[in-house]
Amino acid sequence: MSTVLSARDLARYYEVSQGFMKPKATVKALNGVSFDLEAGRTLAVVGESGCGKSTLARQLTLVEAPSAGSLMLDGVDVTHGVQKDVKALRAKVQMVFQNPYASLNPRQKIGAQLGEPLLINTTLSAAEREEKVKAMMARVGLRPEHYYRYPHMFSGGQRQRIAIARAMMLNPKIVVADEPTSALDVSIQAQVLNLFMDLQDELRTAYVFISHNLAVVEHVADDVMVMYLGRAVEIGSKASIYSRPLHPYTRALLSATPSIHPEDRQIKIKIQGELPSPLNPPSGCTFHKRCPYAVDRCKAEVPELRPLEGQQVACHRAEEIAL
Ligand SMILES: Nc1ncnc2c1ncn2[C@@H]1O[C@H](COP(=O)(O)OP(=O)(O)OP(=O)(O)O)[C@@H](O)[C@H]1O
Ligand SMILES: [Mg+2]
Repeated sequence: MSTVLSARDLARYYEVSQGFMKPKATVKALNGVSFDLEAGRTLAVVGESGCGKSTLARQLTLVEAPSAGSLMLDGVDVTHGVQKDVKALRAKVQMVFQNPYASLNPRQKIGAQLGEPLLINTTLSAAEREEKVKAMMARVGLRPEHYYRYPHMFSGGQRQRIAIARAMMLNPKIVVADEPTSALDVSIQAQVLNLFMDLQDELRTAYVFISHNLAVVEHVADDVMVMYLGRAVEIGSKASIYSRPLHPYTRALLSATPSIHPEDRQIKIKIQGELPSPLNPPSGCTFHKRCPYAVDRCKAEVPELRPLEGQQVACHRAEEIAL
């Protein structure tokens, strides 16, 4: 298998103003995340709002440069930006956003928008580009006459199909999708998820699939990374995460998703309180204030991500509290 994306201790900090005459503070939006992604596989990234999912997406798609750590894209170190072959590397990783309308140009016909990546990155003739665009449109379930239409003439689901088609035009190695179905009706969500999966089967694209919806993640993921306050607290295969979550936070997220096998889960965990501010994170394990299992050690010592039962977990007490 070939690793297409490899992150080590990837971090991104932001300086934020605290107000007039006050010193600047640092938000550790992403605070050291490591994972490998293989060709044709899907890593789902889950966690509450504000845990750093979109910040991770911006680092992986080379929109921002990380503050620390390293990132390899298809075997090339891109940690400090891309020096040469910029076009070729940027074409390897594409992004799909939650709101497809915002990522489409309202004044340009769909055919022209889909042809643009080919115009910029290839030497294909106009006729060849049109042919490729129409083939991709058919692949994502759009009709030939849609080529001449503007974005406002489509439904939300169709617009997301257009955004997916555009991301796929250059046959990228990786697509980072940030909540790509959250804005769609439930009935449309399943169709768009199936489209993602069919395209992956055909093209062997690797996905980083960001979602707060664990039912959606269960549908698409091979592996799952659970994030909390800028860090990964658990990484494992979908099967092991869903059947035997090791981190109390993962268990809490799963017990808050009623559609997922409620009958199997005797132990329910409720998370107390709100996500702490990343400006002033709790000491030790940043989850300790909300964790029903926290002991003194959890307040003092940061748990590192470590291998356990084929998964990786960042919890001092994972063995003791295992189901
Ligand atoms: N440019 C920025 N400047 C300052 N703080 C930022 C910036 N971008 C993100 N943050 C902060 O970093 C943290 C993580 O934000 P991020 O958008 O990555 O979270 P998220 O997991 O994508 O949340 P959501 O599920 O709501 O999309 C938040 O506390 C956010 O306020
Ligand atoms: Mg986000």
